[in-house]
Amino acid sequence: MTNKQRVFSGIQPTGGLPHVGNYVGALNNWVEMQADYDTIYCVVDLHSMTIPYDPHELKQARIDTAKMLLAVGVDPDTSLLYYQADVLQHVELAWILSTITGLGQLERMTQFKEKSDRAGQNLGLLAYPVLMAADILIHKVHAVPVGDDQAQHLELARDLAMRFNARFGDEFPVPDRITPGVGARVMSLTDPTTKMSGSDPSVRSRILLNDPPDVIAKKVRSAVTDNGSEVVYDPDGKPGISNLLELFSFFGRRSIDSLADEYVDAGYGTFKAAVGEAIAAGLGPIRERYESFDDEEVSMIMRRGAEEARDRTEIEMKSVREKIGL
Ligand code: AMP
Ligand code: TRP
Repeated sequence: MTNKQRVFSGIQPTGGLPHVGNYVGALNNWVEMQADYDTIYCVVDLHSMTIPYDPHELKQARIDTAKMLLAVGVDPDTSLLYYQADVLQHVELAWILSTITGLGQLERMTQFKEKSDRAGQNLGLLAYPVLMAADILIHKVHAVPVGDDQAQHLELARDLAMRFNARFGDEFPVPDRITPGVGARVMSLTDPTTKMSGSDPSVRSRILLNDPPDVIAKKVRSAVTDNGSEVVYDPDGKPGISNLLELFSFFGRRSIDSLADEYVDAGYGTFKAAVGEAIAAGLGPIRERYESFDDEEVSMIMRRGAEEARDRTEIEMKSVREKIGL
């Protein structure tokens, strides 16, 4: 056994394939963490059923999302990788945790309020953070890498770990949060004051990880930019240009300062063409790998992961059931 710290993270198979926001803010770290942590990654399909969805699309989106995780470099021999719905122990623990969760805390969740405004309320949407807590606690992880948007949910997981331990005896470590570095919030190309999101109705607002170079070039060319003509880094005053500079810096592996120096007077057109090229060059190998997997191969890898995850989580659940009197 290793004595590395164990981490868990999840990604929903919704809104089409992962986009550069997911990659810069999350997936790239998932891959790098494989070197230093005992990593568990999950395609959280049960979570994506909490807003209205099409079953055929979900079926394909699960496979596409898993395939993209493999393409960016999640290594199924190093990380435990599986579909949440294949491991019902998550659901069992979620039920148990729901009995020690206060309604008020769930009703105050920002994401619940936002999503229920848009999609209507349902019990699953309210219980979403409890299932997420179960995902985390069932593996007894030490830390969870998530963006700001998930901080409130992680706080609930910590509360529930402490509450469970206090009521039934020590079982769960209280997980810490690993925050992604700066530049971890990629903004929409069509509205640089909101974050790039898979649920934005405009496909031009985001670059998908398997977009071909001409599509990337076109999306960057039509990205909303700011008044004036100088390329300077100023997230408040020039959110559009600053967002492109951050992407350029990430994919071109150069500092924002040196890029801003080089392009300050180049004009937006020239600058955007260079940004598009840097992103396309960075994503090229990912797209190739993505296309080299077939669906059946992905399903096999995911089945293997699920088997191991069921074995591991069943061991934890035996101890939980014992403690709660079942
Ligand atoms: P989601 O697509 O909401 O399931 O998010 C999956 C992961 O990607 C989470 O860790 C998010 O915090 C991260 N993420 C999503 N959108 C962005 C964005 N625009 N910028 C940075 N990180 C993001
Ligand atoms: N709710 C997370 C998101 O939308 C996905 C998720 C589900 C997750 N379960 C998790 C993330 C457990 C970290 C740990 O991004």
